[in-house]
Amino acid sequence: MSDNKTILVTNALPYSNGPIHLGHMLEHIQSDIYVRFNRAIGNKVFYVCGDDCHGTPVMIKANSLGITPEQMIEITSKDHDEDLKGFLVKYDNYYRTHSKENEEISAYMYNKAKENGYILTKTISQLFDPEKNMFLPDRFVKGTCPKCGAKDQYGDNCEVCGATYSPTELKDAYSVISGAKPVLKDSLHYFFDLPKAKDFLHEYIKNSGCIQSEMANKLEEWFEQGLKPWDISRDAPYFGFKIPGTEDKYFYVWMDAPIGYFASLKNLCEKTGDNFDDFVKEGSDVKMVHFIGKDILYFHSLFWPATLKAAQLRLPDNIFVHGYVTVNGAKMSKSKGTFIKAKTFLKFLKPETLRYYFASKMNSSAVDIDLSLDDFMAKVNSDIVGKVVNLASRTAGFIAKRFDSKLSDKPNNKELLDKAASIKDSVIKSYSERNYADAIRTIMALADEANRYIDAMAPWVIAKEEGKDELLQAVCSDGINLFRALITYLSPVLPEVAKNAEEFLNSTLSFDSLATPLCNHSINKFKPLFTRIEKTQIDAMIECSKEDLKEAKKAEQKVENKTSEYEPLADQITIDDFAKVDLRVGTIIEAQEVAEAKKLLKLTVDIGFEKRQVFAGIKQAYTDVNSLIGRKVVLVANLKPRQMKFGLSEGMVTAAGPGASEVYLLSVDSGAKNGDRIH
Ligand code: MSP
Ligand code: ZN
Repeated sequence: MSDNKTILVTNALPYSNGPIHLGHMLEHIQSDIYVRFNRAIGNKVFYVCGDDCHGTPVMIKANSLGITPEQMIEITSKDHDEDLKGFLVKYDNYYRTHSKENEEISAYMYNKAKENGYILTKTISQLFDPEKNMFLPDRFVKGTCPKCGAKDQYGDNCEVCGATYSPTELKDAYSVISGAKPVLKDSLHYFFDLPKAKDFLHEYIKNSGCIQSEMANKLEEWFEQGLKPWDISRDAPYFGFKIPGTEDKYFYVWMDAPIGYFASLKNLCEKTGDNFDDFVKEGSDVKMVHFIGKDILYFHSLFWPATLKAAQLRLPDNIFVHGYVTVNGAKMSKSKGTFIKAKTFLKFLKPETLRYYFASKMNSSAVDIDLSLDDFMAKVNSDIVGKVVNLASRTAGFIAKRFDSKLSDKPNNKELLDKAASIKDSVIKSYSERNYADAIRTIMALADEANRYIDAMAPWVIAKEEGKDELLQAVCSDGINLFRALITYLSPVLPEVAKNAEEFLNSTLSFDSLATPLCNHSINKFKPLFTRIEKTQIDAMIECSKEDLKEAKKAEQKVENKTSEYEPLADQITIDDFAKVDLRVGTIIEAQEVAEAKKLLKLTVDIGFEKRQVFAGIKQAYTDVNSLIGRKVVLVANLKPRQMKFGLSEGMVTAAGPGASEVYLLSVDSGAKNGDRIH
């Protein structure tokens, strides 16, 4: 390659207070493919990411877990790193914003901005939690919506009527952290003078080509609405860096978050011996590209370039914005089991299945990407297994058995092999423009053609014919060489398959060597390179995601009810859910001990229209069985009968209490008749 470039590629830094999920993975996969592709065509890439550690939510979550924020970021950072590696996302450095490098660069940039007149101060009045002694971010205040009267709405907007307002406008406001009524308190805040950077920003967004035009148009609306000074300080207690020259003011998390890209790079340079300043100085010839989601556009296209400019540092060459992941056409939902964590996915499925599926749908726009699970399974099975791997598995056997693993010295279908090499430019163009979907389409069209050719030649038929050895070897070698081309093109998407294919082909894959097919070359034994996805794997993943949610809820409740002995509240149900449980009034007309069972009594309950036999675990609580006779109880009457060792149990009597001797049957006020339904 002639004009090789050096590129710094970053991916948005995941927050330290939650796990990596498939939404995050879209971006990591998108950037990883970009990096692998650029390396494949000869560019030098520095690929960095890390955790975004600062801010109130991190501080509060750590607090509720009874650990320090430092301990929490330690745990999550390992966890994130593991998940990303699991998806074959290969950062040169996965670092964190809570680091000495980040503190240093943040201070440097702030001081420069100050020198250049970009820092303002202003006293503002803000809600304050008098019990916890802290200022409350908007999301930590709740109350009644001033517009529609809906209760328990956040301080910045109402989820019922959609109104936006300031937290001071909420009625009956309370602190989410302590429940206390917030008071207004004055505080000195530091601001970044965004309006001062307005002309420069406008020019940069409009004319530098740094961002997709749909995004530039979106930004235009923001310019029209006018830019306001940006509040970059937060009062103690806050988990973050102290603002230089202040006693108790901290940088707002979004101030030092993008600087975290530089911190990760600097930390990497310390290990590699590269010169960090060359990357970040004004006029640097290293290309800098950021991959981000559409929700953080404002921060990356306005605040970040403005702070860079104010600190006299280089600007991003590209801000690549992607859309959101939906699952089966809807927003990822915890209760539907479609909020899928990276770990949960990897428990049931191979990382390259998702890499391939996302790639096959990704282009350079910021439209949302749907992970339709049926389509996902069908596409992966049909493309990778059915078209690509199959090409090798159908031909490799003959080469091994009949030709001592040696490929023929010349192709049978040179035209098709030339064609395989000639799509290179188009594939390269698509990848460079992040039009992965187009690249995949081009590659799969070649796969279709290759399969048609093999089908038409039918080597399994030739193999049975006398004197056709040369043809058989040449056709099968064509199959192997076509497979080689396909895998080379797919290697940025399927790195592990590519690695195993290199082993099988006994040759290093590269875009440059595609024009020369392997001839007279010994290959190794073919091992299956990919297995089909089964529906059961997907179902199990969804079930497991639902379980994850239950676990998380329990843990959360435990934290919230740390001092309480109450069982956590079950998931919310609708009235229709409740109506499924048919509760009836009944009278116990017989009660006997079950001799062989420690806990069971055998009851007969009259529910008016019939009599039910019920085994109830109340023996230790009701030692005098006769006291039960004639007692009115509440019976779950439509519970599926259960065959027990001692007989059939046809319902359940309801009771409260933790168990053993502490079980208390529910009773019914007089007047209710056997068989009455409970509503
Ligand atoms: N910490 C900030 C980023 C700081 S960058 C200097 C943040 N973190 S995040 O964990 O909420 O999100 C990280 C990235 O994942 C963002 O680019 C975000 O858009 C992306 N995604 C999070 N959920 C997503 C989907 N459901 N779908 C696609 N991407 C999404 O924002
Ligand atoms: Zn409202």
